[in-house]
Amino acid sequence: MDKRTFLKSASILGIGSLAALPSLAAATDIAGAAPGPAGDDNSYWAGIRKGYKLKPDYINLENGYYCIQPQEILNAYKKHIEEVNLQGAYYMRTVQAENKNAAAKKLAALVGCSSDELVVTRNTTESLNMIIGGLDWKPGDEAVMAHQDYGAMLDMFKQVSKRYGVVNKLISVPADPQTDEEVVEAYARAITPKTKLLMVCHMVNITGHILPVRKICDMAHSKGVEVMVDGAHALAHIDFRMPDLNCDYYGSSLHKWLSVPLGAGLLYVKKEYIPKIWPIFAEGGKEQGDILRLNHTGTHPPATDLTISDAIDYYTRMGAARKEERLRYLQQYWTKRVRGLSHLEIYTPTQPQRSCAIANVGVKGMKPATMAETLLKKYGIYTVAIDNADAGVHGCRITPNVYTTTAELDELVKALKEMHA
Ligand SMILES: Cc1ncc(COP(=O)(O)O)c(C=O)c1O
Repeated sequence: MDKRTFLKSASILGIGSLAALPSLAAATDIAGAAPGPAGDDNSYWAGIRKGYKLKPDYINLENGYYCIQPQEILNAYKKHIEEVNLQGAYYMRTVQAENKNAAAKKLAALVGCSSDELVVTRNTTESLNMIIGGLDWKPGDEAVMAHQDYGAMLDMFKQVSKRYGVVNKLISVPADPQTDEEVVEAYARAITPKTKLLMVCHMVNITGHILPVRKICDMAHSKGVEVMVDGAHALAHIDFRMPDLNCDYYGSSLHKWLSVPLGAGLLYVKKEYIPKIWPIFAEGGKEQGDILRLNHTGTHPPATDLTISDAIDYYTRMGAARKEERLRYLQQYWTKRVRGLSHLEIYTPTQPQRSCAIANVGVKGMKPATMAETLLKKYGIYTVAIDNADAGVHGCRITPNVYTTTAELDELVKALKEMHA
């Protein structure tokens, strides 16, 4: 059935809106979003907060796992679930793929890459493990990564090491660099003529550290090494476009800062590298250079993919730069008030441009799990304990979101000042 025939029968069934995704135009120029309130305009952000339904039982400062949806996106999601359920297999067999591709196009416009270099996946884990597991590794090939990287990717590198004899070289990212070059150098030192791939986090999940990805890519490319970026936390958190990074592969989770329902991600692959990747799930009938070859996962909830468009519209209206400014403001609001206190350790770089919403603080001599429990039980603040000896991080990750108020952060500051081992 072609699209016109489908639309005709859909309108007979009273479900005409199902096939339509909002126009791509809305997402094409986030940089051109209307100038608006700055990061410290609390009345604007109070309006944003009104758009969320929040649990009154605790202050949620654990938006790093995923960002709950504002009601506008949640309502759109519910509508998509109902619409898909109404049509059942008819939807799946007619416009499902077309709509998913339209969502991928809109995402590609958002990040500024070509739509034939990007697919919608289920999450960052799928995106990046597709690359790590899909390269043609030879015994003795080397890969460079960091102790501060995410466990699922490090585990996949361990697996390819066992399977193909790849040698993994782990570096430690400088905790509080004063220049980009300190970080670039740490990666450069691990590269040898055998290095094939370098993995780097755009934003380290346990500390919030934003790494100088462009400079790392340029350095690696000058030595003939490809770069894969773990952007799980960067998309719709900090304002960037894919060409600014000059990376070869990029993975992100859309259920994090873009507030898409759980179970959506993206994979970007530089056009010339698409043909050489072996997909995790084989896909027949596609050209070797077609990125959709890397996109066969079996049945997946289509309402999640349909909501990508609504989430992009919401984010675009807020404005990428404005959102980044607010998130950085919130983090700086509380860290400025506790940095330097002798009983605390802050694991996030001091220079403001090297982090955004996420930061990590520990109480010296207190186990992170105890700290998280005390924050929740005594102060009603929900965070996550990070106790990672390899990465040298022993604190609680604190992640506000656009709905967080400075009054809530005052509660955190009060708690941190009072808590001693
Ligand atoms: C840096 C980083 N990479 C990858 C992931 C995995 O994301 P997902 O579980 O959505 O695949 C996370 C999750 O928190 C992360 O923080």
